[in-house]
Amino acid sequence: MTRRTWELYLLLLLGLGLMSQEALPPPCESQIYCQGELLHQVQMAKLYQDDKQFVDMSLATAPDQVLQRFRELMEVHNRSVPRQQLQEFVQQHFQDVGLELEPWTPGDWKESPKFLQKISDAKLRVWAEELNQIWKKLGKKMKPEILSHPERFSLIYSEHPFIVPGGRFVEFYYWDSYWVMEGLLLSEMAETVKGMLQNFLNLVKTYGHIPNGGRVYYLQRSQPPLLTLMMDRYLTHTNDISFLEENIETLALELNFWTVNRTISVNSGGETYVLNRYYVPYGGPRPESYSKDEELADTLPEGDREALWAELKAGAESGWDFSSRWLVRDQNPDLLSSIRTSKLVPVDLNAFLCQAEELLSNFYSRLGKDSQATKYRNLRAQRLAAMKAILWDEQKGAWFDYDIENGKKNLEFYPSNLTPLWAGCFSDPGVVDKALQYLEDSKILTYQHGIPTSLSNTGQQWDFPNAWAPLQDLIVRGLAKSASPGTQEVAFQLAQNWIRTNFDVYTQKSVMYEKYDISDGGQPGGGGEYEVQEGFGWTNGVALMFLDRYGDRLTSGSPPSHLVSHCLVATFLLNILLGFLPW
Ligand SMILES: *[C@@H]1O[C@H](CO)[C@@H](O)[C@H](O)[C@H]1NC(C)=O
Ligand SMILES: *[C@@H]1O[C@H](CO)[C@@H](O)[C@H](O)[C@H]1NC(C)=O
Repeated sequence: MTRRTWELYLLLLLGLGLMSQEALPPPCESQIYCQGELLHQVQMAKLYQDDKQFVDMSLATAPDQVLQRFRELMEVHNRSVPRQQLQEFVQQHFQDVGLELEPWTPGDWKESPKFLQKISDAKLRVWAEELNQIWKKLGKKMKPEILSHPERFSLIYSEHPFIVPGGRFVEFYYWDSYWVMEGLLLSEMAETVKGMLQNFLNLVKTYGHIPNGGRVYYLQRSQPPLLTLMMDRYLTHTNDISFLEENIETLALELNFWTVNRTISVNSGGETYVLNRYYVPYGGPRPESYSKDEELADTLPEGDREALWAELKAGAESGWDFSSRWLVRDQNPDLLSSIRTSKLVPVDLNAFLCQAEELLSNFYSRLGKDSQATKYRNLRAQRLAAMKAILWDEQKGAWFDYDIENGKKNLEFYPSNLTPLWAGCFSDPGVVDKALQYLEDSKILTYQHGIPTSLSNTGQQWDFPNAWAPLQDLIVRGLAKSASPGTQEVAFQLAQNWIRTNFDVYTQKSVMYEKYDISDGGQPGGGGEYEVQEGFGWTNGVALMFLDRYGDRLTSGSPPSHLVSHCLVATFLLNILLGFLPW
């Protein structure tokens, strides 16, 4: 090829690239699973306890036929179909949930992964073995019908089997999968991790982003961006550079989604900074929580409803659905209808992206692509400066979500405030010890059973008294980066508290939960939109991470105050024993 043909060829490719970007359809137009009269009437009739159930059912016939039948039914009933007839209609045209996924035992599952040997406490070791077993229960594989008739399913086809969170969450979820993968890698299941990564990369190629979870009704929103980190962890375990080489442009494409669709400019001190936010520019109730969203909207004037729904979806995109983090405002801070997710610049989102930019820069360097490496290094440097200017608070020694509407930080405590430590997204090493001081000042270290999600008890699940595994990891591994032995010791102690809560509840219930209530000695969590779920992917992942890191020191026994009484009992028994001994 001559130089000129090369240029034309490149232009053509570029043009195709732009066209395919523009040709992306609006996420989810399904008149059954995402919007329309059928969805509305069925969900508002509340045929099922959980709205998710209906949108997880697959169709018995083609969607056009189902919609045609429904139009006929509406005509018969003057548009508003009675509950009984809706029930019959769903029974006729839909199939029960769960049939589209098959149980799957990962081929690379192992009975005794090596990290188990690092755990000195015998009870914790047996427990870790049981956690390792749970991967087999959480493995899922798609039936081939989903590939041949995708229009009949809300489930998005994925080629490779995967691990799900558990409970009502029978499909994969984006940010959950990161902690699941950390656990899988400890369980020496890198092949399973690779398959899950391939699924995510394929989603980026098809949709330009990773949806919240593996259903079409999740396509309008993403979840905290951890794909590049997933790749990094996989590479660390396997050194599979050719996999990186094949997929690095897809990683860049995913970051591009956050740049194109989720950027916000913030002015401060005469400068303009560019950061990211959670933002979903689509109205309508969330299909899987339809009646709740509709009823919540009924409490607002009609003109405000679409905005409310968009903010609820942005809240779901943050992974913190829902939390006082997104509700704060001077009036009615406890009302979910006051949600304004997109008006905040979140610390954790920007820390995740900062880390992704650094990792991507390193990946490009490894592949000898220096100009791309420089591009992402510069993006990270810009973000660091913006985070320092907008989110960091020198006096408090932590970062805080920035409220764009009110031009100020939200100074409430959330573990996410320390995500930059965990993500290595800071330039002054002194911040780690400042963060410890911040935790002490906020009285967070007085909680014996886990780090609370916030200090406000709103009834939302991402608030007090719930504690979530990924948030424990953010703090523990953040503090563990300190050079100071004292700060590292606090990190260990926090890991010990969390392990004990997980272990104690497991001992009572033989189950791992998605979240824990730390107010009453550690119990399954509550609050929010649905019942507490069992399984549970990321909780297991984080437990295995702590057991791996601190296995030589962690204990299953009671905390120090009880230890004293154990000692007393032991002394007492010893005395009795001695009393019976013939001297
Ligand atoms: C059909 O519904 C409309 C309002 O939705 C109402 O005005 C009309 O009277 C109804 N027709 C019959 C035959 O019930
Ligand atoms: C991201 O923005 C592009 C361009 O505006 C748009 O076509 C695409 O649908 C957006 N993606 C999502 C998931 O909203």
